[in-house]
Amino acid sequence: MKIFLDTADVKSIALWKKAGIIDGVTTNPTHLSKVGSPKKTILEICKLLPKGEISVEVTEKKPDAIYKQAKAIAKLSKNILVKIPCQREYYSVISKLVHDGIKLNVTLVFTLIQGLMMCKLGVRYISPFVGRWDDIDVDGPTVLYQLRQMIDEYGYETDLLAASIRHVRHFHEAIMAGSDAVTVPADVLEKATEHVLTDRGIAKFDSDWKKLGIRKFP
Ligand code: E4P
Repeated sequence: MKIFLDTADVKSIALWKKAGIIDGVTTNPTHLSKVGSPKKTILEICKLLPKGEISVEVTEKKPDAIYKQAKAIAKLSKNILVKIPCQREYYSVISKLVHDGIKLNVTLVFTLIQGLMMCKLGVRYISPFVGRWDDIDVDGPTVLYQLRQMIDEYGYETDLLAASIRHVRHFHEAIMAGSDAVTVPADVLEKATEHVLTDRGIAKFDSDWKKLGIRKFP
């Protein structure tokens, strides 16, 4: 399972890169609105993770402008995936970009049918937004299970990328649903990778070991 960091914070990406568990980064206009220069930041992230997959979202609104912008974004670095919102008026531009060989991460996917349409168009990833379903009081993870079943049933090559992961439980669900990838904010990844019983266990082993009074081992 691939793990992407859901951020545009270069310091945080550098920190998690050291841990060796990050396969890439997903940015969005909200993340990039918090940094000084979006283009400079994207190039820095691409350089920091040369083998990682870095998702960068289009900001244009009209299909023709999206097409041009997507091409320009993809040219920034060979490890970039272009994010395009899953809107019906963008289907033809998505199809054109797929035919041009541009790797797409279709974002703001909420339903099984939206996901199916994107699989038919042959995009690289679909990103269902789990947390934003929860925001309107609908169980978010359900769509992950539906999409997994649909992709496997029909043998589509599109990968399932669980997005809008707000807490550790969402991360669990993404794994249980068999997502190919998940994008996780740094604070959730931090919480998900620590456990009080692990800490307590280390402290207990440590205090017992110290009773031996051995300075060098082995
Ligand atoms: C990732 O591709 C998305 O941009 C991100 O997961 C959205 O998360 P949010 O719903 O918490 O803003």
